[in-house]
Amino acid sequence: MCYYLYMRIDKFFSEIGKFSRKECADKLKRGLITVNGETVKKGEFKVDPEKDTVCYNGEVIKYKKYVYILVNKPDGVVSATEDGRDKTVIDLLPNDMKRLNLFPCGRLDKDTVGLVILTNDGISAHNALSPKHHVEKTYHFVVADDFSNEDKTAIENGLTLADGYATKPCKIDRLTSKSGHITLTEGKYHEIKRLFGARGNKIVFLERISFSKITLGDLPRGEWRYLTEEEEKIFTNA
Ligand code: URA
Repeated sequence: MCYYLYMRIDKFFSEIGKFSRKECADKLKRGLITVNGETVKKGEFKVDPEKDTVCYNGEVIKYKKYVYILVNKPDGVVSATEDGRDKTVIDLLPNDMKRLNLFPCGRLDKDTVGLVILTNDGISAHNALSPKHHVEKTYHFVVADDFSNEDKTAIENGLTLADGYATKPCKIDRLTSKSGHITLTEGKYHEIKRLFGARGNKIVFLERISFSKITLGDLPRGEWRYLTEEEEKIFTNA
């Protein structure tokens, strides 16, 4: 990986999304930041992110060029970086994270809830979304009417949508007569709604619960967290 040779300590902390420069100034003043064991007091102090050992409150902080975040998107929020009318997934983050230039990796419909990954790593996001990489995305769905085993098989085998697009095979695990988990390896516009629509049914609730092996878990709706190191590996190798 290619790092800047030297960077300001406050930039170091703001780029990894840990503190804004203002917060960093406060931590520096309080003597909470050390570089190679020496307390540093000034934001302009230069560090080599690759070689220097930077600690906050005694904990070693590793420099990362990119940031990876998981948000649990609520209903009515759009998967965009800006929107003149609606709240965006970026608006779910604290204001000082806006400087990180994060964007959503893929889109959920405005009324779909659940897992969205935000990053500023364009290459990994591109790979994760590429149809060539067949990344599995699983959704919990509820439909208006009971779906039959024929409906299930037809959707799983792939069917032709109204616009002529032939969908790729997918997997449905039934939970009840009206609900289940559906796992897709592609992400066409309104795909799940159109798959059930093609069988005369209607999605009334849709929630993305996993992206590859990264799962939403019990993160509350509207909240966010950093991906763990293991999840970052999954995402960047997708
Ligand atoms: N399929 C849909 O129909 N909507 C989504 O938001 C995601 C998948």
